[in-house]
Amino acid sequence: MRPVLLDVDTGIDDALALTLAVRHPELDVRAVTCVAGNTAVDQVVRNTLTVLDAAGGTRIPVARGAERPLLAASRDASHVHGEDGLGDLGVPPSPRRPVEIHAVELMRLQLLDSTTPVTMIALAPLTNVALLLRMYPEAAAKLERLVVMGGAASVGNATPVAEFNVWHDPEAAAIVFGAGLPVTMYGLDVFYQVGISGEEAAKLAVSEDLGTCLVGRLLAGQVAKVHSEQRIPPGTATIGDAGAVCAVADPAGLNTSSLPVRVSLEGEDTRGQTIVDRRSRPGESDLAGRAQATRVDVALEVDAERYRRLFLDVACRGEA
Ligand code: BDR
Ligand code: CA
Repeated sequence: MRPVLLDVDTGIDDALALTLAVRHPELDVRAVTCVAGNTAVDQVVRNTLTVLDAAGGTRIPVARGAERPLLAASRDASHVHGEDGLGDLGVPPSPRRPVEIHAVELMRLQLLDSTTPVTMIALAPLTNVALLLRMYPEAAAKLERLVVMGGAASVGNATPVAEFNVWHDPEAAAIVFGAGLPVTMYGLDVFYQVGISGEEAAKLAVSEDLGTCLVGRLLAGQVAKVHSEQRIPPGTATIGDAGAVCAVADPAGLNTSSLPVRVSLEGEDTRGQTIVDRRSRPGESDLAGRAQATRVDVALEVDAERYRRLFLDVACRGEA
C-alpha cells in the first residue's frame, strides 16, 4: 500500500476525495490535516471527521492547521460549498475530536515515522504544506511526491486567471511550487472534466451505505445548483478534488507535461495566477531564470471516463 497524507479544506469535493482515498485498497491514509479555505478551519475539522466516519476512516488522525493564509486576507467559498462547507445538508457531526497537536506537527511525525516514502495529496490552500517545508525541511524531504489540486495553465475560477486554492494563499503556493520537490499540478485544466450525472448522484444518495449516501447527497446538491461555472455540463457535478486522489491511485489516467511554473504574487489582476510556460521543452531553461519558476508535472489531459469509473467503483462501491 502507498502511504499518503491528505491536506484538506473540506469542502464538498474534499469530502469526495477523502471517501475515495479511505476506501482505495492501495492507499494507506496515515493522517488528514485541515486548513482554512472553503470554510473556516474549525468547520473544516468538523466536516473532515464527519466524512471520515461515514467513509469508514474512523481511526485516521485528524489535525487542525492554519486558520488563515500566510499573508493574504482570510476568505472562503461558501457560495460554492454552503455555509457549513458541506452543502448545508444538516449532516450530524462526528463525536470524534482532532488530535491535540497542530497539523504541521502531525505531518512531521507521520513523515519521520514512515519507513517508506510518503505521497502528500494537497487539496486546499497550501498554507500548512508551506509551513511544513519552512519549519521541518528534513521531514518534508521524505515526501516522494506532492500531488496538488491547484493552479491552472489556462483559465482560473476565483479570478479570470487564478484558481481558488492558489489564489487563497499565493505566498504559500509559491513556496510549495518552488521547493524543488516532485510536484504534480492537478489544476483546472483537468479538474472539471470528471463528471457524475444527476441520475447517478440520485441513485447514490439513497444508498444504505453511509459513505456512498453522503457522496450521493453532496453530488446531487451540486447538480441542483445553478453554476456560473460553464465548464460543468448542465445536469452533472464534478468529482473535483477526488480527481487528485485518482491521480495518485492510477497515474496512467493522467497526461502530464514537465513545465516551468511560477506563482504570480503581484498585480490586482494576476495575483494567484500560476504562470505555466507551455512553450518549454524538457532540458531548456526558460520562464526560467525567473525566481520561483520551477518545473512541475502539469496535468493537461485526463481520461475522464477512467477516473469517473474508478471513483464510482471505489468510493461508491460500484453502486452506480
Ligand atoms: C478548489 O477549490 C475548492 O473550492 C475546491 O475544494 C477545490 O480544492 C477548486 O478551485
Ligand atoms: Ca478543496
